[in-house]
Amino acid sequence: MTKICCIGAGYVGGPTMAMIAKKCPDVQVTVVDINEKRIAAWQSDELPIYEPGLDEVVKETLGRNLFFSSDVDQGIRDADIIFVSVNTPTKTFGEGAGYASDLQYWELCARRIKEVSTSDKIIVEKSTLPVRTAEAMERVLHAGDNPVHFEVLSNPEFLAEGTAMADLEHPDRVLIGGHNTATGQQALQTLVEIYATWIPRERVLTANLWSAELSKLTANAFLAQRVSSINAISALCEATEADVGEVARAIGTDSRIGPKFLHASIGFGGSCFKKDILNLVYLCESYGLQEPADYWRQVVIMNEYQEARFVKTMLHNMFNTIAGKRIAIFGFAFKADTGDTRESPAINVCRALAAEHAQIVVSDPQAMENAKLDLPELADQIEFEADPYRAAEGAHAVAILTDWTLYKGLDYQRIYDSMSQPAFLFDGRNMLDHQALFEIGFEVYSIGKGLKTHLK
Ligand code: UDX
Ligand code: UDX
Repeated sequence: MTKICCIGAGYVGGPTMAMIAKKCPDVQVTVVDINEKRIAAWQSDELPIYEPGLDEVVKETLGRNLFFSSDVDQGIRDADIIFVSVNTPTKTFGEGAGYASDLQYWELCARRIKEVSTSDKIIVEKSTLPVRTAEAMERVLHAGDNPVHFEVLSNPEFLAEGTAMADLEHPDRVLIGGHNTATGQQALQTLVEIYATWIPRERVLTANLWSAELSKLTANAFLAQRVSSINAISALCEATEADVGEVARAIGTDSRIGPKFLHASIGFGGSCFKKDILNLVYLCESYGLQEPADYWRQVVIMNEYQEARFVKTMLHNMFNTIAGKRIAIFGFAFKADTGDTRESPAINVCRALAAEHAQIVVSDPQAMENAKLDLPELADQIEFEADPYRAAEGAHAVAILTDWTLYKGLDYQRIYDSMSQPAFLFDGRNMLDHQALFEIGFEVYSIGKGLKTHLK
């Protein structure tokens, strides 16, 4: 029986391993993590992350061929294949601070693997890493006179949060990079066979190690760039009475452009986009490629502009003062169907509103716990209220920051009636029926469409 161990029971490691366990009953999958609380949560009825469909898969496989453990060494020792899915945050210190990836956890894992392994193993990079990381890893793994052989593969994960289980079950593609050596190709085939259990073989792409590593950063940079591109156009739409939704539809029907990732918004969030682009910028710079670095950096600058522009729009429309005004934030997660708030635009928006002395009420169906942890410094100015109707009571404005479907179905007449007048609604996700809201009496602003006002 093939034994897989995954180091890192996070948003990527947990769901990915659950899917492998479901699809490959003959493979034993053990997920290990240094965080004992997290491991305990995976073994309980309250999983540590919210992801539609995940509970069912974990229920089906837990104890059958899926195991969670905080005994990292044992997990490593027993495994034939080790996925490393520990976090690789942006470095906050020293050279490359604010841009480069902090690889300390990855290297610690490599050292641990070398230390405790007594048999040959395939090491799979699941975490997003700078191109050529595998080279450094191989040096660490093979340092000294270790008789054990390690073959390093790169198998970046492309799942998106909120749709992780569907993405894992029916991915557009799986990418596996390995060395062009006999042992490299053999290891690569071993991993191909696992994925081919449920994924059509033509969707399992193979590449050299460096291409696989770089493809992950490139994919995220391209996706983020599309969001920044349409957001740049949204500002121009507001200045010209063009409608960004209509522009997106018009360009998205061009098969060369395609319709996805053209939804103008308050900006992209999430643990990956900003981190990966900054990492790409750092990589370009470290190879002396200043213009490519500047090009990609602009995607992040545009995103920051969009967040700041949203708050300015709120302030200017609300008569240039929001001090003491109650503002209800609908949605704190960085996107719908997740409780994840990492790099959520809501964090910066709340900070900026608080700097204007607004009284903020945050509501979100899944992200309240994370939201509380994100803004400890604003405890005096922030309330948390799970019920959106109660959050909006007495508010001067509602701001939609996450595209939760439930916000489409709310009784906005009831919300309007309970608010201070004039009642403002700022749709940072461009997702509601703005004409209907306007007819109820709201002052309605939407990204890329501008303000509909009764106050002229
Ligand atoms: C993943 C990828 O690994 C990251 O590179 C990518 O860019 C985003 O997605 P994610 O699963 O979201 O990260 O990270 P997180 O939820 O923080 O999980 C990482 C886990 O690794 C944590 O539970 C942490 O406790 C664990 N960890 C970290 C270890 O077990 N050992 C370590 O040495 C460091
Ligand atoms: C992303 C990549 O999609 C995934 O392939 C990779 O593995 C991890 O990073 P994720 O961050 O989970 O996934 O979510 P994604 O759906 O890409 O959305 C990222 C951000 O962009 C969200 O804040 C989302 O609201 C925003 N977005 C996305 C827009 O504002 N407009 C769009 O049209 C699409």
